[in-house]
Amino acid sequence: MTAIGDVPDPVLSYWPTPPELADDVVFRCLTPGWADGAACGGCPQVRILEPSAGRGDLLVPVRKYLPGAHITAVEPAPQRAAQLRASGLADEVIEATLEDYLETVVWAAMAGTFEPFDLVVANPPFTLPDRPEAWAEHFLAMYEHPYLLAPVAQISAIVPRIVTTGKSKRVKAVRALLDPYFGIDIHDKGTWKDIGAGVSTATIWVEARDCNGRIPTCPHPNCEYEACDRRATSSPASERT
Ligand SMILES: C[S@@+](CC[C@H](N)C(=O)[O-])C[C@H]1O[C@@H](n2cnc3c(N)ncnc32)[C@H](O)[C@@H]1O
Repeated sequence: MTAIGDVPDPVLSYWPTPPELADDVVFRCLTPGWADGAACGGCPQVRILEPSAGRGDLLVPVRKYLPGAHITAVEPAPQRAAQLRASGLADEVIEATLEDYLETVVWAAMAGTFEPFDLVVANPPFTLPDRPEAWAEHFLAMYEHPYLLAPVAQISAIVPRIVTTGKSKRVKAVRALLDPYFGIDIHDKGTWKDIGAGVSTATIWVEARDCNGRIPTCPHPNCEYEACDRRATSSPASERT
């Protein structure tokens, strides 16, 4: 029997990420130069958000590479949220839009019950009804959120290739955050052909706002992961000679 998550849903921009791409996106944010820092070099305790999770295709490699991570997955379509819940890939599945979820984060943070995320791995809806740049809206809403991200966090996202050329204010705002050499990887044409999506995409990586210029350190005080040894010696760039 075909599960709902096996079928693309263009209205909500549901296109499951192809497995090779999903693996690459996750692996590269865990290797030196990228997550050798922002996601704490593979620290098993990292808190990960998948903000538009579908049935969880991006979470398969997250579980493979970071079996001990705590994963929160947000997905508004009830059937896909149910399929994801049944898969056991995420520690918590929140059936909501990202917009609604981000509001609950504000309230939880103000109540002192929210722990920020170390890593966001996303393949946001590229477009939504009357929202041709839904992907950029989502990206900026997470990047600019006052509580969502830990200081050394990273957002790794699959986005339309127009991120490199788009002239709208939103797309320019996303582009302005990218390191032109290391912040973007353009995908091969045809990456989405088998899924049935006529879209050209890229992966982008962006560090949380107050990470700039600092050696990333592990935010988890009791972490024993060896890559976290730098905690003892790391200091802000301004304090390094
Ligand atoms: C391109 S698919 C990606 C699915 C999954 N991340 C993956 O990589 O396979 C986009 C997903 O965003 C969901 N979505 C649509 N509107 C959303 C919203 N406002 N907030 C969060 N997710 C949304 C869709 O239901 C769909 O599952």
